[in-house]
Amino acid sequence: MKAIILFIFYFTPSSECGNCHSDIYREWKNSLHAQSLKDPIFLNTYKEIENKNEKKLCLKCHAPTVLVTGDYSLKKDITREGVTCDFCHSVRGIKKDNSYELDVGEVKYGPLPYILETLEIGHKNKYSELHKKSEFCKGCHEFKNKYGIYVLDTYNEWKKSEYSAKDVQCQNCHMPEDPFSKIVDPEVYPSDKPVTAHKFLGGHSQIRLKEAAEISLFYKVEKNSLVASVYITNKESGHRLPTGIPIRKLILEVSLVDKYGKIVEKKIKVYQRLLADKEGKIITDIKRIFTDAHKVVEDNRIYPKETRRENFTFSLKGEGPFTLRARLKYEYRVPYLEPNIMSMTIYEKEMIIGSEGNLKMERIGFIIFSLLIFVGIILLIYLLFKTIKKEE
Ligand code: HEC
Ligand code: HEC
Ligand code: HEC
Ligand code: HEC
Ligand code: HEC
Repeated sequence: MKAIILFIFYFTPSSECGNCHSDIYREWKNSLHAQSLKDPIFLNTYKEIENKNEKKLCLKCHAPTVLVTGDYSLKKDITREGVTCDFCHSVRGIKKDNSYELDVGEVKYGPLPYILETLEIGHKNKYSELHKKSEFCKGCHEFKNKYGIYVLDTYNEWKKSEYSAKDVQCQNCHMPEDPFSKIVDPEVYPSDKPVTAHKFLGGHSQIRLKEAAEISLFYKVEKNSLVASVYITNKESGHRLPTGIPIRKLILEVSLVDKYGKIVEKKIKVYQRLLADKEGKIITDIKRIFTDAHKVVEDNRIYPKETRRENFTFSLKGEGPFTLRARLKYEYRVPYLEPNIMSMTIYEKEMIIGSEGNLKMERIGFIIFSLLIFVGIILLIYLLFKTIKKEE
């Protein structure tokens, strides 16, 4: 095994941590935290910004080691590691203004209270309760700009939800315990301590997204139209759906498809947050979102555990049997890449509405039902009238 260097006053490269924490290293390496600076969407956006202070602002979260190293020209390898192991494990506290209090060097702060403070091998440890709490993530996953607009609001969205009340933290969903990984490579140090996943799966993960929402579908035939009711539930997302930087959209597409598979009619509903600048113009350019957002124009994203009902009316033209199809898509803009928009279907549900004959039966059913109600009401009035007369 090659010599391992742990820097005493500086950040240690993640590959050094990986010499012992090999499973965790592999997961982190593939995570967006490891890509937060190198990510071409970020890097290209960043390069277009001219204002020095704005550039510094971006790095606070996308390359947080610069706060200590001062490497604003992005020359050091450690800077390019983005949200790296040693940044997160040097966090000792979080200040009121959302900035991190750091202790860079020998001691690694972590969630396990029963680990020796001085190991025979490795480094010193300090137990940190903060690492098990959402407040730990808040420093980067919540951002209020100078106009008081929360450009990133994931932490607050969570805080107001029942997950927070039930003590379900960000870590419970994004860093679940991982029975297949080892905390330390057994060849280095045998240990049976629990390990949490460091993949940080979110909106870029199909698996995570598929769990997030659910839809159910109902319909009613009235005369020559069909009214579809779609219920969307934010089932597993611990914050609003979508959350984070407001370039993501959730799109509900409901279509009526005819016998030949042709779409007769399609209706669309979009869930998103739109921010506007001082002049009231909606900001679509990512590099301006953080600094220029002045007003929330629209925010109809779905709350944690909320079920939202949407009605769509279709006219029944064409040949049945018809199919009613509801599709929930997650879409994010990826400037500088081709194509510019990435889209994932996260849920789909279909329902056969029945043949033309069936529909006729339903229409007749509807008429009979209305007639019955009508007769019922007449009968009720008649009875009421009779009793009043009797009392007289
Ligand atoms: C030479 C091997 C080695 C290296 C290199 C190493 N560690 Fe560790 N680390 C350990 C061992 C051993 C433990 C304790 C495991 C146990 O007790 O089961 C540990 C525990 C930890 C813990 C848990 C602490 C707690 O109290 O919860 C954290 C966090 C941690 N390491 C982070 C890091 C980071 C970050 C790096 C790189 C800067 C790193 N380690 C480098 C061996 C190493
Ligand atoms: C975004 C911040 C972040 C990054 C980056 C990060 N960790 Fe962690 N790490 C945490 C948090 C938070 C926990 C505690 C999770 C819990 O217990 O709920 C943790 C837990 C640990 C533990 C204790 C055992 C376990 O898995 O729970 C070790 C060891 C560890 N991390 C090592 C590393 C190493 C090595 C890297 C880089 C390869 C790394 N971490 C990158 C935040 C981070
Ligand atoms: C030092 C800042 C920092 C800290 C601390 C931090 N994050 Fe992040 N996180 C980021 C940045 C920056 C990105 C976006 C990377 C990119 O795509 O360029 C990100 C991305 C993510 C993603 C992936 C989003 C996606 O689109 O798939 C998840 C999930 C996530 N973070 C969860 C967490 C959790 C949970 C914690 C706390 C345990 C945490 N983060 C702590 C800065 C941070
Ligand atoms: C109950 C589980 C749960 C909790 C708690 C939770 N999340 Fe998530 N998170 C999800 C799911 C599911 C998704 C994927 C769907 C989505 O984008 O909302 C997600 C997505 C994300 C994304 C990606 C957003 C994007 O648009 O790409 C980020 C960032 C994130 N979560 C951060 C956090 C942070 C920070 C916390 C704590 C304040 C947290 N999450 C708490 C389940 C959870
Ligand atoms: C307070 C922390 C913070 C600051 C400041 C910040 N970001 Fe981010 N940024 C994030 C997080 C967290 C994510 C990803 C998860 C999400 O959507 O919440 C992200 C995502 C992004 C993405 C999308 C990456 C992708 O792959 O989809 C771009 C681009 C981006 N940021 C650019 C910037 C620019 C440019 C600046 C400076 C003007 C900036 N950010 C400032 C935390 C921050």
